[in-house]
Amino acid sequence: MRIQTRTQVAIIGAGPSGLLLGQLLHKHGIDNVILERQTGEYVLGRVRAGVIEQVTIDLLDEAGVGARMHADGLVHEGVQICVDGVRHRISFKEMTGKAVMVYGQTEITKDLMDGRAAVGAPTIYAAYDVALHDISSEKPRVTFRADGKEQELLCDFIAGCDGFHGISRKTVAPTAITAHERVYPLGWLGVLSDTPPVSDELIYVRHPLGFALCSMRSPTRSRYYIQCSLAEDIESWPDERFWEELKPRLDQEARDRLVTGPSIEKSIAPLRSFVAEPMRFGRLFLAGDAAHIVPPTGAKGLNLAASDVRYLSQAFIEHYAEKSDAGLDHYSDRALARVWKAERFSWWMTMLMHRISDNSFDHKIQLAELDYLFRSKAAMTVFAENYVGLPY
Ligand code: FAD
Ligand code: DHB
Repeated sequence: MRIQTRTQVAIIGAGPSGLLLGQLLHKHGIDNVILERQTGEYVLGRVRAGVIEQVTIDLLDEAGVGARMHADGLVHEGVQICVDGVRHRISFKEMTGKAVMVYGQTEITKDLMDGRAAVGAPTIYAAYDVALHDISSEKPRVTFRADGKEQELLCDFIAGCDGFHGISRKTVAPTAITAHERVYPLGWLGVLSDTPPVSDELIYVRHPLGFALCSMRSPTRSRYYIQCSLAEDIESWPDERFWEELKPRLDQEARDRLVTGPSIEKSIAPLRSFVAEPMRFGRLFLAGDAAHIVPPTGAKGLNLAASDVRYLSQAFIEHYAEKSDAGLDHYSDRALARVWKAERFSWWMTMLMHRISDNSFDHKIQLAELDYLFRSKAAMTVFAENYVGLPY
């Protein structure tokens, strides 16, 4: 016997997009249930994004979960870019009047989970074999197995917030969806360590040996990345090898300040650009990585997930409170307009900063573009506007 329950919005996935959507809907009295394949501990163990835009900060505040972020997050008014051992700075404040916040995705996820637990909204972790049904009808359903029992969730709408490898996008008929994709022949090898960061600001590094990024989570916790081949096996990267590969890519000052130590997390992420269009299929709405992926270079993945959720939550609120479907009808177009601009910036910054080919022409073009970036106020403004996040 299948256990049957009912909600207004069934949310698939308890990553940042699913949890944020759930919290915003709950605030507006819209009933929702989140179904997550993994356990809560597993979701919290994933180390991912670190930089959030002002619009994402505002949304977390609106969801009522911003207190710890404001207490512990680090406000960054600029970023450093190191080209072949020489460091330059771009001031966000000067170019745009704005700033970004460095606050880890793990912490955001924890704040959202705590917020959800505090209001007693249901999340079903370890929900297996999630399947979406009747998305083109007025009565969509989700079936799954949890606690060893077959269950069925009846709903008005389904929000597919289940990431790139999730089930929601795969439920749609291939003829109804257009995918645009670019795969880069490299990945990022990331290390988290309890060592002080080399700089107060992030340093993005372009170097003949390959890209590197010096980031942080707090004044005592650093996050570093280096470009690696996709064929790399994480087992063949003991900590010493990571530090040895990172060091020569840095400028002298950063090298002198670098404190190495044991890694507390180490992982490889492939670089990919991907957009699925449209983002709505009947009563199924995709949000976040379920609909699009950016290479991490522009720090846009999490921020795009948040901007989708902003459009989608407003559309659901309009539907229930004002009996208007205008927001739902425009959701896909609105979200995609912002998505494509972030895709462009992430692709551009990836091509600018990584060693992608051995062609000397490509290298010279990178250097010319970087030189132009540091000399032109117009170019720096374009960079800063995109990095801090384009307006909605
Ligand atoms: P996710 O965080 O992927 O959450 C989706 C959730 O759905 C997961 O919890 C998953 O377990 C669940 N799920 C999947 N399938 C099912 C199913 N069938 N049933 C139920 N639940 C399911 N962005 C940056 O800006 N900077 C970075 O450094 C960065 N690093 C990254 C590293 C990696 C390895 C990855 C994968 C992404 C990284 N990103 C980074 C991107 C950023 O983390 C994502 O854009 C962000 O997590 C998107 O949030 P989301 O909620 O849409 O998807
Ligand atoms: C971090 C990740 C990014 O992709 C990025 O562009 C900047 C910072 C980070 O994990 O800190």
